[in-house]
Amino acid sequence: MSPALPDGDPAPPDGLLPASAAAGAAARDLGVYLHVPFCRVRCGYCDFNTYTAAELGPPELPGASQAGYAGALVEEVALAARVLDASGLPRREVSTVFVGGGTPTLLPAADLARGLDAVREHLGLAAGAEVTTEANPDSVTPASLAELAAAGYTRVSFGMQSAVPHVLAVLERTHDPARVPQAVRWAREAGLAVSLDLIYGAPGESLDDWRASLDAALACEPDHLSAYALVVEDGTAMAARVRRGELPAPDPDDEAAQYELADAVLRDAGYSWYEVSNWARTPADACRHNVAYWRGQDWWGAGPGAHSHVGGVRWWNAKHPAAWARRLAAGTSPAVGREVLDDDARAVEAVLLGVRLAEGLPTSLVPGAGLAQVSRLVADGLLEPPAADAARSGAPDTDQPRLRLTLRGRLLADAVVRALLGWEGQDDATGVTSRAAS
Ligand SMILES: C[S@@+](CC[C@H](N)C(=O)[O-])C[C@H]1O[C@@H](n2cnc3c(N)ncnc32)[C@H](O)[C@@H]1O
Ligand code: SF4
Repeated sequence: MSPALPDGDPAPPDGLLPASAAAGAAARDLGVYLHVPFCRVRCGYCDFNTYTAAELGPPELPGASQAGYAGALVEEVALAARVLDASGLPRREVSTVFVGGGTPTLLPAADLARGLDAVREHLGLAAGAEVTTEANPDSVTPASLAELAAAGYTRVSFGMQSAVPHVLAVLERTHDPARVPQAVRWAREAGLAVSLDLIYGAPGESLDDWRASLDAALACEPDHLSAYALVVEDGTAMAARVRRGELPAPDPDDEAAQYELADAVLRDAGYSWYEVSNWARTPADACRHNVAYWRGQDWWGAGPGAHSHVGGVRWWNAKHPAAWARRLAAGTSPAVGREVLDDDARAVEAVLLGVRLAEGLPTSLVPGAGLAQVSRLVADGLLEPPAADAARSGAPDTDQPRLRLTLRGRLLADAVVRALLGWEGQDDATGVTSRAAS
């Protein structure tokens, strides 16, 4: 099942944030993540906090069932506004909303509209806000997509994963590959921007299979593409099959070759990487919500197991939908744990997240021990020579020298991070890209 929540301090029942969270808040963006923890079936590789109807059992509370879920989500958004106000945070309109899961589009479009309306009503939504929902290609219709667009959604991210039947089968995906171009066309007709998620490194996937999936994705002309190396997560059905020897574990060398192929094919088609696992047709097509995560901005995550971050305070909600809904129904914050990052921890996080972006990591964020490694990392072909580049994709503080990963550096991003933090040399690299940092 899904991974355990992190350790941390208990979160206060009223959810109030320490005074440190408000410092500098006016200069940071505020995003909202709405988690929808339902899937029709569970894919064998997935350990996200999501539940099938059989896993949930009979609804104990309205918030723990699909039917009553939107109402509980609205309650948490209202609580977010109260907590931010009472904690002394300045009022900021929300600049991005991301509805993820699970499969948000298993809920009626009217419920997803209610979630967005709650953000508008309680927190305020900025003009021109980016509003994304994830979707399984099976779970949308022309009417549902049009309803989402009318409600203010601007973007849909489809879980395509592969176009090759035997790869989809090993991933235990249920959708018909022909459904993807159809769903993309419907989304476009509704006026929504489109992103596609792909997974590479599935057992039995050849380089030709991967190229076929990339070509099929490009034929849909998406605005944005994410390509994730398959992670065999502990506790998943796929991990059990690998352990029993029924499936081979992903091979890091194969995954590196697949990443290089993706980068070349996508670049040739006119897409640029802006984060290690993400490519966009133009800088304006980058996912602003996820870029804000990597830049360490503020976001409120609502829903079971959702994580939030405001000004160096991180907290996470009760993981099971029933436990989450029970807390909300009792008027208690659904947060169960939190962590107040000290300056050192914040500096580590800034490097860990920021280096993944193509806009580069400002050298001012790198500790002295890490700066001493830069010339070696450049000589080893892992970093480009530090440069200030005002033209780079809207990054703030563009007059500062920035460290930018090379292609080889993207393949060995974890090792570059360790070197920049002065933790160790880059020799014990752990391999290619991991899935989204968010
Ligand atoms: C919440 S899902 C997207 C929406 C919808 N549930 C679907 O799968 O169609 C988010 C994405 O995470 C990626 N993902 C999930 N588990 C993964 C794993 N174990 N390894 C790599 N990528 C994974 C998939 O690409 C998936 O599309
Ligand atoms: S990959 Fe998507 S559809 Fe599959 S179980 Fe995970 S969240 Fe659900």
